[in-house]
Amino acid sequence: MLTNHVEVKIDVARYWDKRSESYDNSPSHTGMPEVWKQILSSIFKKESRILDIGTGTGFLAVLLAELGHEVVGIDISSGMLKIAKSKSKNSKISFNLGDAENLPFADNSFDATICRHVFWTLPNPDKALSECYRVIKNGGKAVIIDGTWNSSATLKIKSFIGKLGIAVTERRNPWKRYPLKSPLRELSVSSYANMIRDAGFKRVYMHDLSWLRKIIVEKSFFHRLAWSSKSYFILEAFKEV
Ligand SMILES: C[S@@+](CC[C@H](N)C(=O)[O-])C[C@H]1O[C@@H](n2cnc3c(N)ncnc32)[C@H](O)[C@@H]1O
Repeated sequence: MLTNHVEVKIDVARYWDKRSESYDNSPSHTGMPEVWKQILSSIFKKESRILDIGTGTGFLAVLLAELGHEVVGIDISSGMLKIAKSKSKNSKISFNLGDAENLPFADNSFDATICRHVFWTLPNPDKALSECYRVIKNGGKAVIIDGTWNSSATLKIKSFIGKLGIAVTERRNPWKRYPLKSPLRELSVSSYANMIRDAGFKRVYMHDLSWLRKIIVEKSFFHRLAWSSKSYFILEAFKEV
């Protein structure tokens, strides 16, 4: 059943507006930009028009524009977008308010879409995947960077200390609940790939990124205590009509 209720989206946007104030303090969000740039270079070998869906504070969008791509970043949160806009004066990049589940773009208008850490935040991720498929040109691809989250610290006390540390170092409330129950937080990579195929994509490739997650988490003592992820990956899915 589709959850398109305006109230849900308003709550989600409010959550991210508030979260925007501290979002960039986390190494999971803004850490290792040079490594990310290399990863993006290997995924996008020729100049492309790329839609960054749920761009947040624009971390990947800015890197992609620096690599010479034309980038459009969209997000449901004006708070996140305000920070994204403040980061880039690059003429190859633009940021717009928009819903991943109802993309405000014509069919076949992008060479690629990219989406990092977004699908778990959506009430209808399958609708967002169909929208990706619709706006990508034939021969283009969707790039999804995500993980199987929240296998969680086994010891409650460990998790509590980690979150306490995050509350202090990142100046945010890590106990704040997300406004909706996410269908995708704990989805395995193979189930993810099946969902992507269901949206119409033909070839789906998985690239393991757990090595990067390990480095990022190693750098952050409190993150290591508070959370763990079972897997971290890039899924590259091609539209071939
Ligand atoms: C975990 S953040 C990821 C941000 C960014 N992609 C990154 O990698 O740092 C999730 C983002 O998805 C956005 N978002 C949530 N629901 C959305 C929707 N329906 N349409 C567009 N963006 C959405 C949030 O506002 C937030 O900026």
